Amino acid sequence: MTHLPKAIARPSSAPSTLPVESTTVPGVDAADRVASLSVLAHEVARCTRCADLASHRTQTVFGVGRADARICFLGEAPGADEDASGEPFVGRAGQLLTKIIEACRLRREDVYILNVLKCRPPENRTPEPDEVDHCRGFFERQLAIIAPDYICCLGTTAAHALLQSTEPIGRLRKRWFAYRSAKVICTYHPSYLLRTPSAKRDVWDDMKLLMADMGVEL
Ligand code: URA
Repeated sequence: MTHLPKAIARPSSAPSTLPVESTTVPGVDAADRVASLSVLAHEVARCTRCADLASHRTQTVFGVGRADARICFLGEAPGADEDASGEPFVGRAGQLLTKIIEACRLRREDVYILNVLKCRPPENRTPEPDEVDHCRGFFERQLAIIAPDYICCLGTTAAHALLQSTEPIGRLRKRWFAYRSAKVICTYHPSYLLRTPSAKRDVWDDMKLLMADMGVEL
C-alpha cells in the first residue's frame, strides 16, 4: 500500500491485532468512562448556549466509539446526515473517514470519533469562534474522560480548537504536538479530500506517520 487513493479504495489486510485501548489510567476502567461519557452526553443534549444552533438542530451529535480508545479522531461539526442520525461522520465525508481508518488496519468501532461542535451549523458553515468556545468544555471533557494516547485533528477547525493555534493546516501537518497525555497529529479534513482528491496522498503520508508511531504495521 503505497499511497492513499488505493488504500482508501481497498484496505488490503485484516485489522491489526495491536491493542486498541488507551494506556490504563489507574482506577479508571472502560465502564467508568462509558458512564462519565453518558452523563456528559446528557448535559450536551440540554445545551442551548448557541441559541441559533440549538433552535435549528434535530439533535446534538456527541461522539461514537470506544470509551477507552487509544486514538480519537476530532472533526469540525455535524452536517445534515449527522444531525439526522445523531452520529458523527456518517455522510460522504464520514464514509471516507471510515475508509481511512480501515486502511490504517483499525476498525471504526475501535477508535473514538467526535467533533468540536455538537450542533450542526446552518448550511454547514465554518463554526464561529464563540461557538467553539461554548463547546470547548464539552470536547475537552470528552477527551479527558477517554484519555487517548493519540488524537488526530481533521482539518483546520479541529486543529485550531485543540491546539489553540492559528497556523494554516498545511503547516501543522507532519509535526507532533502534545495535548495533555496525548500525542497530536493534524491532517486534512475528509470533506476537503472529496473536493481535492489529489490531497489524499498527503493524508496517507500523515496516517503512515501516525501508524508508525502507534506501532501499527501497514
Ligand atoms: N464533518 C465533520 O467535521 N464532522 C462530521 O461529523 C461530519 C462531517
